[in-house]
Amino acid sequence: MKNIVLGAILTVSVSFASGVKPVDNQLYKKECASCHFGFQPGLLPARSWVKLMNNLENHFGDDASLDKNDKKLLVDYLVKNSSDRAMNYKRSRKITSSIFGNSTPIRITKTPYFIRKHDELRVGMVKQKEVGSISNCIACHTTANKGIYSERAINIPNYGRWE
Ligand code: HEC
Ligand code: HEC
Repeated sequence: MKNIVLGAILTVSVSFASGVKPVDNQLYKKECASCHFGFQPGLLPARSWVKLMNNLENHFGDDASLDKNDKKLLVDYLVKNSSDRAMNYKRSRKITSSIFGNSTPIRITKTPYFIRKHDELRVGMVKQKEVGSISNCIACHTTANKGIYSERAINIPNYGRWE
């Protein structure tokens, strides 16, 4: 009986771990999902988040600086849930293993895994005003907020479903 119950629990946790872990931090939602989609911590390794968080004054042309305490709380959250600490999530694992150990990308969109997955997109799909930037995950991935990026849930504005 015990084994049957354990088996059921394992099956459930495996099926939940196909994407990346959804954002579950209110401070992160407030501070890091106001200008753009709230990228899940499991989309970049810890060293990338540390590098990005150490230069918030000069954040892709914007000033995203925070007070010391909030910054520390968010670095802790990001590192604890980073792709290299979330290897039970399939996407996190693939992103982590695609990045060379000596490189520290601060864009998800510059990781080899991401580039490989998006090389079939046409310029018009990204540049149109409903999307604007390849960093705007939620414009095409309808379930991005849940950390689910599967092909089944892709719908590109004005172009339709990918499958
Ligand atoms: C004042 C606005 C603003 C705030 C606040 C902000 N960002 Fe950004 N962020 C930007 C802009 C602008 C870009 C570049 C977007 C683009 O190229 O389309 C960006 C890009 C990024 C990227 C790279 C996305 C990619 O291309 O892969 C990451 C990661 C990121 N931000 C994380 C954060 C985190 C973490 C926080 C909270 C500490 C944060 N941002 C807060 C404006 C902001
Ligand atoms: C312009 C639309 C568009 C945007 C914006 C976009 N994607 Fe995608 N993404 C796609 C398409 C289309 C595919 C499917 C490619 C394929 O496998 O054929 C894809 C594939 C993926 C995959 C792999 C899915 C799979 O089943 O193999 C992941 C993970 C992913 N995207 C994450 C992201 C993240 C994270 C962002 C934002 C930083 C993002 N995407 C932005 C269109 C987009």
